[in-house]
Amino acid sequence: MDNMIQIKDISHTYGDKQVLKEVNLDIKSNEIFGLLGPSGAGKTTLIKILTGQLQATKGKSYIDQLDTIYSKKKIYERIGVMMDIAGLYERLSCYENLLLYAQIHKVNKLLINEVLKKVGLLEAINTVVCKLSTGMRQRLLFARAILHSPLVLFLDEPTRGLDPVTSDSIHQFIKEIRDEDTTIFLCTHNMEEATKLCDNIGLLQEGKIIEYGNPKEICRKYNEEDTFTVICKSGEQLTLKNNETDRENIIQLFRDNNVMSIHSSEPNLESVFIKLTGKGLV
Ligand SMILES: Nc1ncnc2c1ncn2[C@@H]1O[C@H](COP(=O)(O)OP(=O)(O)O)[C@@H](O)[C@H]1O
Ligand SMILES: [Mg+2]
Repeated sequence: MDNMIQIKDISHTYGDKQVLKEVNLDIKSNEIFGLLGPSGAGKTTLIKILTGQLQATKGKSYIDQLDTIYSKKKIYERIGVMMDIAGLYERLSCYENLLLYAQIHKVNKLLINEVLKKVGLLEAINTVVCKLSTGMRQRLLFARAILHSPLVLFLDEPTRGLDPVTSDSIHQFIKEIRDEDTTIFLCTHNMEEATKLCDNIGLLQEGKIIEYGNPKEICRKYNEEDTFTVICKSGEQLTLKNNETDRENIIQLFRDNNVMSIHSSEPNLESVFIKLTGKGLV
C-alpha cells in the first residue's frame, strides 16, 4: 500500500535557527502516527509544513502523493487540522461555527448534526462558543476537523490541558475516525497517549528523529534488564532472569499455582525517552 504521508529530507530554519534537520518519515494509510518530543523540538513546525501553512527551507513532503507546496488546494480538501491556534468564532454557536466550515468545504449541512452527535455536543448545538468549557471547545475543534471526512487528520496536542475523561473520549474519537479510513498524524508529549493509540511513533529531539517504530516494540528493544518480577501467593517477591534455569523456575511457580502476578522489566516509553534524551518530555 502506498504511503499516505511522505516526508523527505525536510529541514527548516527560522532566521538563523535550524529547527528541523533532515527529517524523513513515511506514514501509511490508516495508521495512527505519533510525533513525540519535548516542547520546542519542532513538532508544530513540521505539522505546519505538512499542512501547507509553511514552506520548508529544504526537502519535500507529500500527502496522498501530492506535493504539499504545489497542490495546496487539493491538500486542503484532503486534510483536517486541529491545532490550538485554529480559532473558533466566539460569538457564534457550535452549529454556526460548523456551518461556516461546511460551506467552505461544500459539505452537506445535514452532516453537522451527525458530527456534533459523534463528539457529544448535540445538546450544545445552539450554545455560543464563549460559553463552552475547554473540553467542549476541544471537542468542537475535533468536530470541525473531521466534518469533511478528511483522508488525513492532523492533531497538534489534542488533549493538552484536558481532564482524563475528556481525553479518553478524544482518544475514542481518534480510533473511530481511523476505522473510517482516516490516517492520523498526532503530535503529543503525552507518553501514555502515544503508547495506547499509536501504531508508530517518531521521537523528535532538537529537530531530528532519534527513534522510530511501534511503541511497544521500542520498549522491548530497550529492555536491557530482561528480567521478570514474580509476586508469589506465598508472599515472596522474586526477580528472575530470562535464562534457561530461571525460565524453568517460573514454569515451576506456575505449576505450583504460586504466581500472584508477573511483570517483565521492559521500560515504558517515558523511561526510554529519558534514557535517549537525558530528560523527560515536558
Ligand atoms: N515563527 C517562528 N519564528 C521563529 N522561531 C520559531 C517560530 N515558530 C517556532 N519557532 C521556534 O522553533 C522551535 C520549534 O518550535 P515548535 O515547532 O513550535 O516546537 P514544538 O511544537 O515541538 O514545541 C522553537 O525553538 C520555537 O521557539
Ligand atoms: Mg507545538
